[in-house]
Amino acid sequence: MNSFYNKHFLKLSDFSKENLYELIKISEKLKYKKKIFKEEKKLVGKNIILIFEKNSTRTRCSFEIACFDQGANITYLNTIDSHINDKESLKDSARILSKMYDGLEYRGKYQKNIEILAKYSTIPVWNGLTNELHPTQILADLLTIKENIKNKEIDQIKLSYIGDINNNISYSLIEASSIIGFELYLISSQKLELGNNLYINNIIKKMKKSNNIHITSNLNIGVKNADFIYTDIWFSMGEEKSLELWEKKIKKLRNYQVNHSLLKKSHNNNIKVMHCLPSLHLYNHYKKLFTKEIISKYNLYNGLEITDEVFESKNSIIFQQAENKIHTIKAIIMTSLLKEEI
Ligand code: CP
Ligand code: NVA
Repeated sequence: MNSFYNKHFLKLSDFSKENLYELIKISEKLKYKKKIFKEEKKLVGKNIILIFEKNSTRTRCSFEIACFDQGANITYLNTIDSHINDKESLKDSARILSKMYDGLEYRGKYQKNIEILAKYSTIPVWNGLTNELHPTQILADLLTIKENIKNKEIDQIKLSYIGDINNNISYSLIEASSIIGFELYLISSQKLELGNNLYINNIIKKMKKSNNIHITSNLNIGVKNADFIYTDIWFSMGEEKSLELWEKKIKKLRNYQVNHSLLKKSHNNNIKVMHCLPSLHLYNHYKKLFTKEIISKYNLYNGLEITDEVFESKNSIIFQQAENKIHTIKAIIMTSLLKEEI
């Protein structure tokens, strides 16, 4: 029996380094099979429920494609036309949907919500993003990292994450680094915010115990000899949409943009640039979100968290990351629904 059978995928810290390496290996195999048109449909007859309380392009499509490729059926639910977390409690939804489906994906606000769903479900529950964590994204990122290193293992790389360090991507990267042991630099003028959130506080505690995770506001130290630079959008879903708050954040993060000069500071011509997406890199696209005054005051003509130039450069492996979500999500679904080794 494979070791992931019947298990939830809620956070990376529920898994060991060996587990994560194994999931990456299975994803590689599935990716290869799909590329050579030799994929076997092993999930025929399985029914999968996808719940999205927040918007999604990549994660939803990856779950759907993974299911289509494997012959599983899907239902998509959001909060507008279902009772989830409104008239019906998560505890009830978990028990009802467990009677109808074989597996459940959830993207929602709080990590505690998915933990409730998992507690009362009798089927595997997979995390499609919460305010605190985005483990399915990071598994795709680890596969992408593996595909882009020569003569190194994942645990030997230096990854520099720059920008908003208080979000689901930075927290999940901290989890990944503390499990796998790669060197992680979080580069920002922000401090990690300890609050009353159990999950975040546990992550920060773990980080303090790891000697391979560092926080710095110094760009040179942060990216020197890095193999990968990673950034995320400065305004995550669910953050209050207020120009005043956004301006404060821009002011703090303005000098923590992924641009050509940052790449040079790495002293690595072959540095790879990562972004989970969506990204505000194209002026004509994001200008509608801000006032002309903000754009001019902070000189935001060339991108926010990343310049369009770097986004489109040969260093960028951003679209490879996006595609890899299909293969890693497929590995998660298959290993938790099938007893056999994949
Ligand atoms: N990276 C990611 O999770 O993208 P979506 O929000 O489009 O799913
Ligand atoms: N931090 C971002 C990630 C999007 C995939 C957000 O939560 O909106």
